[in-house]
Amino acid sequence: MAKKTKRAPLAAVILAAGQGTRMKSATAKVLHELSGRPLAWYAVRAALDAGASPVVVVVGHQAAAVETALRAALPDAPLRFALQAERRGTAHAVLAARAALRGVTGPVAILSGDVPLLSAATLRLVVSARGRARAPLALATMALAEPKGYGRVLRDGRGRPVRIVEERDASDAEREVQEVNAGLYCADAAFLWRALARVGARNAQGEFYLTDLVALAARRAPAVAVEVDPLEAAGVNDREELARAGQVLQRRRASLLMRAGVTLETPDRFLCDEAVEVGPDVVIEPDVRLRGATRIGAGCRIGQGSVLTDAVLAAGVTVRPYTVIEGPAKVGRGAVLGPFSRVRPGSELGEGVHLGNFVETKKARLGKGAKANHLAYLGDAVVGAGVNVGAGTITCNYDGERKHETRIGDGAFIGSDSILVAPIEIGARAYVAAGSTITKAVPPGALAFGRAQQVNKEGWVARRDAARAAAAGAKPGAR
Ligand code: UD1
Ligand code: CA
Repeated sequence: MAKKTKRAPLAAVILAAGQGTRMKSATAKVLHELSGRPLAWYAVRAALDAGASPVVVVVGHQAAAVETALRAALPDAPLRFALQAERRGTAHAVLAARAALRGVTGPVAILSGDVPLLSAATLRLVVSARGRARAPLALATMALAEPKGYGRVLRDGRGRPVRIVEERDASDAEREVQEVNAGLYCADAAFLWRALARVGARNAQGEFYLTDLVALAARRAPAVAVEVDPLEAAGVNDREELARAGQVLQRRRASLLMRAGVTLETPDRFLCDEAVEVGPDVVIEPDVRLRGATRIGAGCRIGQGSVLTDAVLAAGVTVRPYTVIEGPAKVGRGAVLGPFSRVRPGSELGEGVHLGNFVETKKARLGKGAKANHLAYLGDAVVGAGVNVGAGTITCNYDGERKHETRIGDGAFIGSDSILVAPIEIGARAYVAAGSTITKAVPPGALAFGRAQQVNKEGWVARRDAARAAAAGAKPGAR
């Protein structure tokens, strides 16, 4: 942690108003998802982690949706939203945040909402470089072999940054410059507002460029440049860059997990959302995807091709291949699921529960050690401890209008291919005979048959064959 100082606290502005034309999307660029979070979330998170408060997000294109998404993901953060009604450039966007920053006199960090890999540590570096140099402005730069698309940083004979020129406005010689503007700044508040008032729009795009601040600073006291890791400062402007940023995030996530004691059989074939937590000694087989607020307890094994969303697994759970959990769902210690189970919202599976292939649960609570090993549907059900649900059992929970509950007492045995028509209650330790359709409550300890009585016709085949033979023998003689 950075040591506390008495200096004015850091504020931050995140630029997230643009449409993101190069994404070719009906959805605003900053709402595109990376590891289960909207793109803009990452810059906001970095600013918060660096200690910024308030963090003002400048929104414009799909403003309401961007605000809703960020507030939902960061409910307790000191966020403010400022509307940039018209998109007239990055300088114009920062000006839109002015009212939301009233009273802020200290440093203001400015980040793009489309730079998701930036760490709080790098942001702090830029902030402290400005403070140390007592400069009006610090900016992050990076050296790129292929600087295409970025603003070029021009330095004077003494190596001080004097101007940034956008690619469209650059001369051929300027385009050769490989040091580019990373789009991350820290400015003194007084300088910021004074300089922004003087930014013009005489450039190829007719926009107000924030990058002009560098030239405006240079006249008085020059800006300081801080070189940062290009990997961190890569901007996302199109879908390829989005995918590349996603890969970097996944790789980082995978190595963090492995360092924390998780085995990833194929680290590059594993997808994990930002908020997921995985305990030690978990083994994750290839092609697993962990989504939302999933939490995996110590020592679990997650089988190949499984997708877990908002699933909370206690320790020692085995998820066999190709199992899908669509939570919110809870799975108790030592449970064994799959292969090919589907656990839907509201499922709570107790300790040691077994769900086998093609078993679906929805809003179902299964007690300790309950088993449904093959081909079953348990919906709106409360299943007691130690219950055995036979293959092909179905709870008929829906009458076409409403859902009804099935309750099965501890230790009951449900024979294969039983139909339990809810609302229904099966008592503790009761037996339901295989192939039953159960429409009336079964008392505890009873055996219920809900199927037609079987009738055996002794000697029926022989009688049929004799009748056929007689008919065949009668035919030739008929003429
Ligand atoms: C910008 C910089 C460029 C730098 C690059 C780094 C300018 C003029 N150029 O270019 O020097 O190398 O970032 O990634 O600043 N935005 C608004 N309102 C607007 C315009 C943009 O909020 O009116 C937001 C966008 O949503 C985006 C961010 O500002 O999040 C940057 O805008 P973008 O158009 O992506 O700028 P670049 O062309 O990448
Ligand atoms: Ca950009």
